Order: sequence, then structure tokens, then C-alpha cells
Amino acid sequence: MIPVNELLRSYKLYEKEYNEKAVSVLQSGWYILGKEVEAFEEEFAQALGEGCYCAGVDNGLNAIRLGLHACGITTGDEVIVQANGYIATMLGITQNGGIPIFVEPDQYHNIDPDKIEAAITEKTKAVLVTHLYGQATRMEKIVELCKRRGLMLFEDCAQSHFASYQGVNTGLFGDAGFFSFYPTKNLGGFGDGGGVVSRNKELIEKIKIYRNYGSDYKYHNIVLGFNSRLDEMQAGLLRVKLSHMDELLANRRKIAKAYMEGIHNPRIRLPEVAAGAEPIWYLFVINVDDQAGFRNYMTAQGVQTDVHFPTPAFLQPALSYLGNKEGTFPIAEKDCKTVVSLPMMDYLSDEEIDKVIEAVNRYEG
Ligand SMILES: Cc1ncc(COP(=O)(O)O)c(C=O)c1O
Repeated sequence: MIPVNELLRSYKLYEKEYNEKAVSVLQSGWYILGKEVEAFEEEFAQALGEGCYCAGVDNGLNAIRLGLHACGITTGDEVIVQANGYIATMLGITQNGGIPIFVEPDQYHNIDPDKIEAAITEKTKAVLVTHLYGQATRMEKIVELCKRRGLMLFEDCAQSHFASYQGVNTGLFGDAGFFSFYPTKNLGGFGDGGGVVSRNKELIEKIKIYRNYGSDYKYHNIVLGFNSRLDEMQAGLLRVKLSHMDELLANRRKIAKAYMEGIHNPRIRLPEVAAGAEPIWYLFVINVDDQAGFRNYMTAQGVQTDVHFPTPAFLQPALSYLGNKEGTFPIAEKDCKTVVSLPMMDYLSDEEIDKVIEAVNRYEG
């Protein structure tokens, strides 16, 4: 069976370097917020772009939660998001007392820039875009709109490490970008991890205080903080992976190119790439009317698939208190019923790629 993703492959690619780093962290005698975290923050920020700063935190959800908190999102504030987004994005808002306000996605599965303005009310404080599946949202209208309407602009980049739009890396378009370094991510560790990035140095300094009990120096607490610290082991291992990012990205682009050029089946809608967007192919997501039937067929062909995500965020039971009903966002709903993720990971052999393509092309519905 060709897996939809296999983390062991990612480890094996640079096994020796990971092992050496792990041992060096173990032998350092210092395990949370230390030299590895500082070095990772600097290297990641530098790789993202000029004037960028980073605060490492314990996971992607807490990157959103702390980031919004540090920027003043609080009880009753409305934050505009996409209706087909991931639950963690919404939890980052609700855990600050905020209210996610949903907007339909576009044909690239990202928030539709033309539908945001209609969702703005006097309670709206921010727009939080998610660059879903590794493709940057079309940002120019959103940046202009947020400036014009005095809204903060945030980016959930948990799926979009080094995806760019018009030459700018995601995370650098607005007030802050939020990253997850969960193992499946393009820049994934071997445990939980996350980061907040911004060109606003003061904001990043603030996050560094919030992540560590609100402490500006040892045993001195200036705000009511959290425990959201990144550990040395994850930071060290992430530095190894970061140093190979170009190569890893090239692998994924090669797989995506082969799928895009090789798949010819009228029952399958291939992903569309917006002009100006450079996707990093966190996932390779097609649309097919008979989602379950196609997946069963692929399993029988020896190819594993997945669905990201079967239930749109706005219909999750946990968010039913917001009062959103079925039928409110038909585009998001249809997407969830028709998306299928094909195998995409740090490495697939040419034979595996060909096998996936052939199986998809033979699908007759
Ligand atoms: C879009 C999006 N936002 C946020 C998160 C949360 O990241 P984490 O799992 O590190 O908390 C994820 C992770 O899966 C995600 O895909």
C-alpha cells in the first residue's frame, strides 16, 4: 500500500543528522528554551524574510492563541475566517473569547477575498486567513481591505511553510503569522512545536514573555502568562530539517508536477494554482464527486488516501453554539464532501508516483 504520508521516511532521509542532534541535545544538560530554540528562531525568521522575527512555542494552536491574545483579541471580538478551515484555527479564537465569523472559500480552497467585506460588523477586529493545503491565499485585496477598515490581519501558516504569494512568504503579510511544526508539516519536528512570526519585534518579545508564565526575567512576572515553551530537542531537530528545506520542497514539487501533468481523468478535478502563488504542496488535494467510492477504489488499487477535512469547521458540533446551520456555506460544504488527498510527503519513488497516477487515470466512477 502506498501511504498517504509516512513520517518514518522523513526521518530516514537525514537519519544520521537527526541522531547526532538528538544526542547533542541530550548531552547538553539543558532542555527547554535554550540555545537550540534561539538558533532555530533566528534561522527560521531569516529564511522567511528580511526583518522577520520568531517566537517558538509549544504547538500551532498555542501560536494562534498567544498571538491573538498578545494582539488584544478578547471576549466578543469577531475574527473572520474561512468556513472550510481547521478546528485549531477556530479554537485559537474561541480560547480568547473571540467569535469566528465564517466566509466561503474560493476555487483554491482558501478564503474568498471578494466575500470578506460583507462579513465585517462593528465587532470585527481581525481577519485570520489560513493558507490551506500549502497554497498561499490571494492576499492583495485582503491586505488593502484590512488597512482600509482598520482590521488586524493574521495568517494561519500551519500548512504553508515557505509558500509564497507575489514573492512574499506566508506569515509576513499582516500583523503576525502562526506556524505549527507538527510532524506531518513540511517543516515538522518529532513532537509538538509551533511559532509566531512577525515583522513587529515588540510583538515577538511580548509572545516570548507570554509563553513563559508572563515572565520578563527569572521569577518576575509582568503579565498573566501561559506555559507554551518550545523544547530544545524539537528546536534542534527542526534546525536539521530547515537546513534541507530546499531539497524537501523540490521533492514535493516534483511529485505535484508529475500528478498535474500525468492525471487525465474527467471525473477528477486537479488543484488550481492562483497566479502569483507558489504552493509548497503540504497536501495534494483533488475533487471527485463520489468521495467515498473513489477512496474505496484507490484502496483496492493499493493507494491510501485521506480527506482534509470531512466536516467543515462551521458545522463542527463543538461550534454549534455559534448557530451556523447546514446550507449556510454551500461551497465549503461541497468541498468537504468532494476533496480527497493523494499521497504527498517528503519522498515518493518514481514507481510510486506512477502507480498513483495510473490508478487515478483508471478510475471510472
Ligand atoms: C490550519 C491549521 N491550523 C492550526 C493547526 C494546529 O497546529 P498544532 O497541531 O501544532 O496545534 C493545524 C495543525 O494541524 C492546522 O492544519
